[in-house]
Amino acid sequence: MPLPALQKFERKIERQLRLLEFGKTIIERRIERQFRILEQRRDDIGKKIEQRIKQFELKRGIRLDDEVRFIRSWIERPLSTGAVTPSGKMLARTMARYVDPHSSGPVVELGPGTGPVTEALVRAGVEPSRLVLVEFNPSFCRILRTRFPQATLVQGDAYSMRRLLEALLLQPAAAVVSGLPLITKPVKMRLRLLRDAFDLMLPGAPFIQFTYSVASPVPTRLKGFSAEASERIWLNIPPARVWVYRKA
Ligand SMILES: C[S@@+](CC[C@H](N)C(=O)[O-])C[C@H]1O[C@@H](n2cnc3c(N)ncnc32)[C@H](O)[C@@H]1O
Repeated sequence: MPLPALQKFERKIERQLRLLEFGKTIIERRIERQFRILEQRRDDIGKKIEQRIKQFELKRGIRLDDEVRFIRSWIERPLSTGAVTPSGKMLARTMARYVDPHSSGPVVELGPGTGPVTEALVRAGVEPSRLVLVEFNPSFCRILRTRFPQATLVQGDAYSMRRLLEALLLQPAAAVVSGLPLITKPVKMRLRLLRDAFDLMLPGAPFIQFTYSVASPVPTRLKGFSAEASERIWLNIPPARVWVYRKA
């Protein structure tokens, strides 16, 4: 191709590229605007729910602080919060029942939220100083710090439990109690969490997990561990069941 024609062709390509770039910027701005609108709507819904809860509290003369925080957290991160309200007392007590308060070693809780299961563990006789709480929601961490000042609080991702706790635990754990919404994660990840927990625990120690699902959140047909389930706890909202896994 002669040089002037080539230069003309190049200029044409450059112009097209500039147009494409311009189009891309406009689309990006539109997407950002839509995101901002969605976030605003989510905040408005959150505020409305909070107002309704406050009105309900005033009318009934009760306080539902934890519920409000939970709903807010659920609106912000539905998959990782995994529930719209904290666990009820019956479910929390059932979880705690599987931990022997006289065993030795730390008791690890994954995803304690605002602490209903933590409280049930303490009421069941587990020394608060034995508790190692792994929670990644900063506002829940603030609550946990004030409610359980003697417990060790780790603000981080429970799925990195091995890295977070290996150096921290001076003894193998006596139990791992999990409130994580396991079913929102791929099965491979759930199994890895279970294996990591077994590696940090005493042989035969329980990994205690609650679920709203009908089936076990970890496939029980796999070899290498045993599984037992509690009765369904109908009084919880929503009804739940506790599963206990032990390394075979
Ligand atoms: C279904 S709520 C249960 C809270 C509490 N245990 C209860 O029974 O009310 C799940 C909790 O796990 C926490 N969580 C979810 N994914 C997590 C992760 N990867 N690491 C640490 N905490 C997590 C959430 O912030 C939330 O507090």
